[in-house]
Amino acid sequence: MPDFKGKVVIVTGGAAGIGAASVRQFVKAGARVVIADLDRERGEELAGSLDQAIFQPTDVTSDKDVCALVKRATSEYGALDVIFNNAGSFGARGSILETSVQDFDATLALLVRSVFLGIKHAGQVMKEQGAGVILNTCSISANTPGYGPHIYQAAKAAVEQLTKTVALEFAEYGIRMNCISPGGVPTRLITSALGAPDEAAAGIGKAMAAMLPMGRTCTADDIAQAALFLCSDEASYITAQNLTVDGGEATGKKWSTQHLH
Ligand SMILES: NC(=O)c1ccc[n+]([C@@H]2O[C@H](COP(=O)([O-])OP(=O)(O)OC[C@H]3O[C@@H](n4cnc5c(N)ncnc54)[C@H](O)[C@@H]3O)[C@@H](O)[C@H]2O)c1
Repeated sequence: MPDFKGKVVIVTGGAAGIGAASVRQFVKAGARVVIADLDRERGEELAGSLDQAIFQPTDVTSDKDVCALVKRATSEYGALDVIFNNAGSFGARGSILETSVQDFDATLALLVRSVFLGIKHAGQVMKEQGAGVILNTCSISANTPGYGPHIYQAAKAAVEQLTKTVALEFAEYGIRMNCISPGGVPTRLITSALGAPDEAAAGIGKAMAAMLPMGRTCTADDIAQAALFLCSDEASYITAQNLTVDGGEATGKKWSTQHLH
């Protein structure tokens, strides 16, 4: 496991799913973590269960909140080494013909403005420090039409491009930036889109697994482990990349003679 002893890490959307798994892994690796989320109850509960974590109530679409989040990390812990801009949900779903302008704007705010704000406010501190790592959650749907709702797919494609282009600006400041593209993880993002309760996640995961190359779904911990690697010193020459962690899901289907029929 990479060593994050003494490092200060922010994880947005850190109260649940991929974010919560990442918070646990960062703490296990020695980091001091600021959990940022809209969900105060879950965020405070998770922070309270860990030795080196605090919760900062944050709406990642709000400039004021993200600015306050970065200030909280530096005032509490004296520096900011890593920000994982991860919060999100599907946003607008259904036919493009029925998508309202308000839902379009809200989805882009949640998935793209949030990443812009995290990059901007954390980037300022990291530039002054001369070091830092930024990781953004993208998705296989950024490059695979049909894997998510329309606006979600467009937003994740924007996250990939924003990551790559800003990483080139930031390289000379000692800041690395990458994004990570999970395959389908049976979290609340998926259960809520299906209108199912949280407890349905395991059953939904089983159904998804049957269609996947490795016969199992991606887990939040699979993403957390890859996130830690990308944010660690072991990845010191990796920047402006999108790492897919999907067990081969988006690559295609294994060839078989059935394709000939
Ligand atoms: N689950 C998947 O299959 C999957 C696949 C690819 C990418 N992703 C991406 O992974 C990220 C995390 O998703 P997840 O699957 O862990 O979902 P999740 O629903 O389990 O967790 C998302 C967290 O984000 C928080 N959040 C939502 N809106 C927020 C806001 N405005 N401000 C602050 N916090 C907010 C929620 O409260 C929740 O704690 C998202 O960006 C999602 O698009 C997920």
